[in-house]
Amino acid sequence: MNIALIGSGGREHAICQKLYESPLTKNIYCIPGNAGTEKIAKNLNFDPLNFKKLLIAVRFYKIDLVIIGPELPLTKGIVDFLQTNNINVFGPNKYAAKLEGSKAFMKNICKKFKIPTAAFKICKNKTDVKKFLINNKLPIVVKADGLAAGKGVVICKTYKEVEKFSNEIFKGKFKSSKKLVLEEFLSGEEASYFLIVDKKSFAFFGSAQDHKRVGENEKGPNTGGMGAYSPAPIINKDLEKKIIQRIIEPTLKALKSKNNPYTGFLYAGLMIKNNNPYLIEYNVRMGDPECQVILPRLDTDLVKILKAATDNQINKIKINWKNKKCMTTVLCSRGYPGSYKNSQLPNIDNLKLSKNSFIFHAGTKLKNNLLFSNGGRVLNITEIGNNFSKIRKNILNNIKKINWKKGFFRKDIGWRVIKNIK
Ligand code: AMP
Ligand code: GLY
Repeated sequence: MNIALIGSGGREHAICQKLYESPLTKNIYCIPGNAGTEKIAKNLNFDPLNFKKLLIAVRFYKIDLVIIGPELPLTKGIVDFLQTNNINVFGPNKYAAKLEGSKAFMKNICKKFKIPTAAFKICKNKTDVKKFLINNKLPIVVKADGLAAGKGVVICKTYKEVEKFSNEIFKGKFKSSKKLVLEEFLSGEEASYFLIVDKKSFAFFGSAQDHKRVGENEKGPNTGGMGAYSPAPIINKDLEKKIIQRIIEPTLKALKSKNNPYTGFLYAGLMIKNNNPYLIEYNVRMGDPECQVILPRLDTDLVKILKAATDNQINKIKINWKNKKCMTTVLCSRGYPGSYKNSQLPNIDNLKLSKNSFIFHAGTKLKNNLLFSNGGRVLNITEIGNNFSKIRKNILNNIKKINWKKGFFRKDIGWRVIKNIK
């Protein structure tokens, strides 16, 4: 098959690697891809939000399947556009992508179908905010309704903070929406649960935990993710049953009832408290960097799985997982998630890596055959093995070998699963 993959992050390099390993794959085209995908696929350097250009490329290269990595093209309707033009595509349509694209949409589904989630109020103005504040205790979580590149959520410890952040959103801080959602603060342990979904059925597609805060000991501002590990040990069989029955099934039913059945990867961000799951958010794609720790554990041909999904035959295949653990640490540009400068990276091609170590590129670019950073999250130093403690040691060793002076990373990825941290 000829496959096109939309996106340019570490998630897309990890997906691209699996596509590359499949005997069903003929050619891979990454739009636009990064320096990592360039080694195993052909990068097409244009903005995939230019749908017309995309369609021309898909026809020219005789693409049999288009896979959408990130959320933005999904919420803009890339799937609807390609399907209207009879192109085979994997991902949710514009309506279903509102599960991530609008927090208000997602919360209304929770309310209607009694899905466990934090108490909330959708607010359009200051009066709405005041009403919620009367009946709810601090801290209060303020969330921009629309996509906000990981910057749309603030956990507020004072009413003043709630008002300040709310007013910024009402004034149009985020272009995607001027609405917001106020939420009760949920305590517990977070975990991410993934599924692959077609019109008829769905299957488990891994669990993970990520570290969103920029600093060690979960300090500092939120980022897209500084590291992750899979599986998430907190997710046991009993909890999984509750996740499916109380959260996933009602959500899929809700979208079916609107004649927009969900298709694609679905990522449920959960808070676990007393072995009960609460939905914090949905993402309509694989996580980044969660994908980079889930796919190395996958033991079934990814292309076969995606083909089954677009044929609505997920229920006909068995998806196998290696009985292994996987972790990734994100090497970032100094300054991220604030401002940073792109710079040249050391040559990582000559590094001697064991067969259990992988480096997925995220924000990287080749210029005259030299490697440059091209974003805040630059490389994902990844390792698969049997023991999280040994895995992390090897990751830290590999980061030392890379020796990028302008980068930084968290040394404590996986602290929950590694006791006796040294
Ligand atoms: P979201 O974009 O909705 O996933 O929010 C980003 C992060 O904020 C989550 O991963 C949580 O760490 C935190 N968060 C969001 N909503 C809540 C909540 N209601 N209670 C506690 N923490 C939350
Ligand atoms: N790592 C969080 C996300 O992909 O949204």
